[in-house]
Amino acid sequence: MKNIPFAKVVCDGNELKYVQEVIASGWLTTASKAKEFEKRFAEQVEAKHAIAVNSCTAALHLAMDAIGVKAGDRVFVPTMTFTATAEVVRYLGADPVFLDVEFGSSLLTPYILQEAIGKYPDVRTLIVVHYGGQAAKMIVPDGQGILDICRKHDIQVVEDAAHAFPARLHGKIVGSFGNIACFSFYANKTITTGEGGMLVTNDDEIAKRVRVMRLHGIDRDIWSRFKDSMPNWEYDVIAPGFKYNMPDINAAIGLAQLERAEAMRKER
Ligand SMILES: Cc1ncc(COP(=O)(O)O)c(C=O)c1O
Repeated sequence: MKNIPFAKVVCDGNELKYVQEVIASGWLTTASKAKEFEKRFAEQVEAKHAIAVNSCTAALHLAMDAIGVKAGDRVFVPTMTFTATAEVVRYLGADPVFLDVEFGSSLLTPYILQEAIGKYPDVRTLIVVHYGGQAAKMIVPDGQGILDICRKHDIQVVEDAAHAFPARLHGKIVGSFGNIACFSFYANKTITTGEGGMLVTNDDEIAKRVRVMRLHGIDRDIWSRFKDSMPNWEYDVIAPGFKYNMPDINAAIGLAQLERAEAMRKER
């Protein structure tokens, strides 16, 4: 019997070259390669901020924190997803309200969301999942898309785009429909960094909070402490944050993968 791999990792571009550059530089943690990866990724998804982290789960957790989800809140989550989408809601002591998905696409639809809002009018956050490379109906040509409905009901939207890079909806790339979008670079994804993720937003305040919370709540990351003219031992801890930064070795792989993202999407 022939085994068919669930996902085949293809690293036949500049991966090795960029990783060698990182090793030769002697700077293995988050530094210039991570910054470069963030810049290039933000350009690709046409977003203002892209913040590299060590998994999509971390990005989703930071997203929940940044939009202010707190204990006792409820968050809409589609049933058809990976456990990470719901578990991050519980990290903050909030509860997921599971929503049905459409038969065939496995996506949440505007209709299902509208029905749920009728039943749970107190819910102020939605995590929408772009399942299996398909974008959920965030916008629709005629009528109310998920985004219109959320705006009308003052619901903040986090896109779980773990399966959706690069993906488009009516010509617009997935990554900046909602308040925040979270991507995965786990080994079976279209592009990989081994383990890794990216949080994308157009909101300056959210970006500021996420940058601090991904590194212990420290207000200056180690690379800026090394590069800045300010003394490198001077920083403040402004909140109990997390250890979610992406090391440069992973970012180096990501940079090489990003160069061939469109080709890899087509192949998949
Ligand atoms: C829909 C979805 N969201 C989130 C995740 C979590 O991604 P990561 O493994 O990068 O934390 C996954 C993982 O496969 C996923 O399928």
